[in-house]
Amino acid sequence: MRVLITGGGGFIGRRLAEALLRSGTVTVDGGAPQPIERITLFDSVAGAGHPQDERIEPVTGDITDRAAVEGVTARADVVWHLAAVVSAAAEADFDLGYRVNVDGTRTLLEALRGTGRRPRVVFASSFAVYGGDLPPVVGDEFHPVPQSSYGTQKAIGELLVADHSRKGFVDGRSLRLPTIVVRPGKANKAASSFASSIIREPLAGREVVCPVGRDTAIYILSPRRVTEALLRAMELPESAWGVHRTLPLPGITTTAGAMVEALQTVAGPAVAGRIRWEPDPAIQRIVETWPVGADARRARSLGFTDDGTFDAILLAHIEDELGGASAIAR
Ligand SMILES: NC(=O)c1ccc[n+]([C@@H]2O[C@H](COP(=O)([O-])OP(=O)(O)OC[C@H]3O[C@@H](n4cnc5c(N)ncnc54)[C@H](O)[C@@H]3O)[C@@H](O)[C@H]2O)c1
Repeated sequence: MRVLITGGGGFIGRRLAEALLRSGTVTVDGGAPQPIERITLFDSVAGAGHPQDERIEPVTGDITDRAAVEGVTARADVVWHLAAVVSAAAEADFDLGYRVNVDGTRTLLEALRGTGRRPRVVFASSFAVYGGDLPPVVGDEFHPVPQSSYGTQKAIGELLVADHSRKGFVDGRSLRLPTIVVRPGKANKAASSFASSIIREPLAGREVVCPVGRDTAIYILSPRRVTEALLRAMELPESAWGVHRTLPLPGITTTAGAMVEALQTVAGPAVAGRIRWEPDPAIQRIVETWPVGADARRARSLGFTDDGTFDAILLAHIEDELGGASAIAR
């Protein structure tokens, strides 16, 4: 199997590549696991820190560059499409967001269509597609009314994936991802970036500003669970998707304040004391347009799971990224 991950130099792409390397196989469409020959990590940023493995092939290119994209789709059997301009960046630069998130997705789908092999593609969409007058818990059939350019671009991406699938050009599957917490490394330009920073930075001994109020609710999933979900989306047989090519994922609902309380319990008051609460109206406004819960019944019935509690997410982060509680900067 030849795997292509667009945005493969990013946070989730890297986690996914590591998981694929660990298993050594990819399971497609309900079949038997097949050995991985190569994983192409396509990204506009030539990154260091790719997993060191002979099966990894980093390729630097722009997702809107048809020739560059055709170069990598020509030799891909399965694709995870993760390349994107994230929420606050897409809101700040309207043209860039549409270019990468809409034109880039279309470029990829057209290149896959051009292979004539009807490749399978899993697209990372987002709960940012929802907005407007939201119920406390969004049902599977709740109508997306995005209230940000990023959410609009992701909703367009879902429709493009669905229509290219309906026409038989690709076998596409879109997952609506909750906010993924805890993101390691540096903060990115997602409006949800605070949900990771308020945990990651204090644990590393650094002070951090939380740009939303303590009561701000957020719907989250861990890096472990999202990686499993991306694999599961590829693995499910096409019959499980039918005409509904988009699946909202299960997550858990918490608040910024509850996350910091959990941090205090696990790491102590000195660590939790490194957070300064300074709400930023622009970030608060974007975050408040997102739903804070979903029943995700269909995803659960198809074997997708959440983390259960925020404590579980926090402990997994300490184990996976810090190597255990002894590395906490108390
Ligand atoms: N992390 C989350 O909380 C979250 C939540 C919902 C949806 N998503 C979606 O999941 C996907 C992965 O998210 P992530 O957190 O890993 O983001 P990320 O920013 O870490 O990774 C995205 C990658 O896309 C690359 N990219 C940007 N523009 C590009 C271009 N023009 N051509 C090629 N590559 C380009 C970036 O360099 C980056 O490495 C994205 O599509 C994102 O919108 C993420």
